[in-house]
Amino acid sequence: MANIVFIATSIDGYIADKEGGLDWLHSVPNPDNIDMGFAPLMDRVDALVMGRNTLETVLSFDVDWPYSKPVFVLSNTMKEVPNGYQDKVFLVQGDLTEVVADLNSKGYQDLYIDGGVTIQNFLKQELVDELTITTIPVLLGGGIKLFGELEQMQSYQLIESKVYLETIVQNHFKRMG
Ligand SMILES: NC(=O)c1ccc[n+]([C@@H]2O[C@H](COP(=O)([O-])OP(=O)(O)OC[C@H]3O[C@@H](n4cnc5c(N)ncnc54)[C@H](OP(=O)(O)O)[C@@H]3O)[C@@H](O)[C@H]2O)c1
Repeated sequence: MANIVFIATSIDGYIADKEGGLDWLHSVPNPDNIDMGFAPLMDRVDALVMGRNTLETVLSFDVDWPYSKPVFVLSNTMKEVPNGYQDKVFLVQGDLTEVVADLNSKGYQDLYIDGGVTIQNFLKQELVDELTITTIPVLLGGGIKLFGELEQMQSYQLIESKVYLETIVQNHFKRMG
């Protein structure tokens, strides 16, 4: 059972720029469209848990639905799943420990956790087991931060470090203890 964060950040630790944009994710030419671990992750997890803002960002892209597993969207304001996604997206809310326990009891053991506020809240509640951070070599100077404050230090061990396209570093950490 693992709660897994897999996310790209700028060197200065932002996951979206000042306008909420993600164009900088594609600032390094990737002619062969290598996926940097996304497909294996999608194979491994049983479901995703993401914040409502991240769902809305994904829906605003003119691309095919990128997830092959059920997506549980955290929201207190979204009352209905957007049309056409009823078999893919499910709304959840409340205490994260309970949300995770409920999903685990339904057989969703390995969860891919996504979204800025969502990741910060999972970290605050000590609910993150693995962190894969892909660092795009840009400084955004502001935007949505990946990390926020924590009550206390958390220690991780480096499992693997990879370099993609000679410039993008991806570090895979596991929580210790
Ligand atoms: N760089 C990357 O790889 C990457 C990856 C993912 C996202 N992003 C970017 O990050 C941005 C989105 O992040 P974000 O920080 O805005 O937030 P987010 O985590 O995607 O969404 C936050 C929202 O989730 C809901 N929520 C969170 N915890 C909840 C709980 N326990 N119960 C009920 N609802 C809960 C709330 O929705 P309500 O307001 O509806 O209650 C909250 O406003 C987007 O710009 C996206 O593009 C970047």
